[in-house]
Amino acid sequence: MTKLSVNLNKIALLRNSRDSNYPSLLDFAGLCVRAGADGLTLHPRPDQRHAKYVDVHDLAVLVAGHAGVELNIEGNPSEKFLQVVLENLPTQCTLVPDDPEQLTSDHGWDVVQHGDRLREIIGQLQRAGIRTSLFLDPDPEQIRRARETGTDRIELYTASYAHSYGHDDGETVFEQFREAALLAQELGMGVNAGHDLNQDNLGRFLTIPGILEVSIGHALTVESLLSGFEKTVKNYLAIIQATIQPVQQTS
Ligand code: PXP
Repeated sequence: MTKLSVNLNKIALLRNSRDSNYPSLLDFAGLCVRAGADGLTLHPRPDQRHAKYVDVHDLAVLVAGHAGVELNIEGNPSEKFLQVVLENLPTQCTLVPDDPEQLTSDHGWDVVQHGDRLREIIGQLQRAGIRTSLFLDPDPEQIRRARETGTDRIELYTASYAHSYGHDDGETVFEQFREAALLAQELGMGVNAGHDLNQDNLGRFLTIPGILEVSIGHALTVESLLSGFEKTVKNYLAIIQATIQPVQQTS
């Protein structure tokens, strides 16, 4: 069955908007594990605007206490990133070609250009016992080249699938992803997927056979807010209404 790895970057972003540890990433990680999530994902970026490097350590310690729960650390393999990954030994490292200023990951690797460097990094990670994955667009040429890097898996960048879902070009784009996944599997690589997947579009995507893992963060967080926000507003109103407020003196 496909594994769900919950990306906790949005929780980290909320936490970072105050000088306190609220919400606590570890509390949410624990909640995911109790809910049955198969894994946790963090994507630390150089400015640490969401996940911080220290969070990688904290989650690695948490995951070590829960047999079978995986930790996936994704990001651009800068020297610092690789140092943190090699120190904390996550289950999987997903290499992503995002620039430091990028709002979010928005394209896969050009393996033709970066193949030699990726092969070297992938070898280093695998020798440390870390499973590797390469973030890729559903492009057959890139997928064939990815095979030459020795990566264990690829992660298909699903934004174009998600954005076309339910639109005229939806089926054509879906077919592109299906063929890309089947090609990667034929070449011996496992297939993960992620970006902009949500409760509406995920089911259709998973009709592609053999998807090993989906990592989901943004929509999962927004959907959680949507399902709890109204109730929480009512809870606050109930507290206000139940409080006997002192009568204000008017002169
Ligand atoms: N995969 C990668 C490489 C990502 O950068 C992200 C976003 O951080 C995701 C998956 C998850 O995407 P989303 O937050 O849209 O679910």
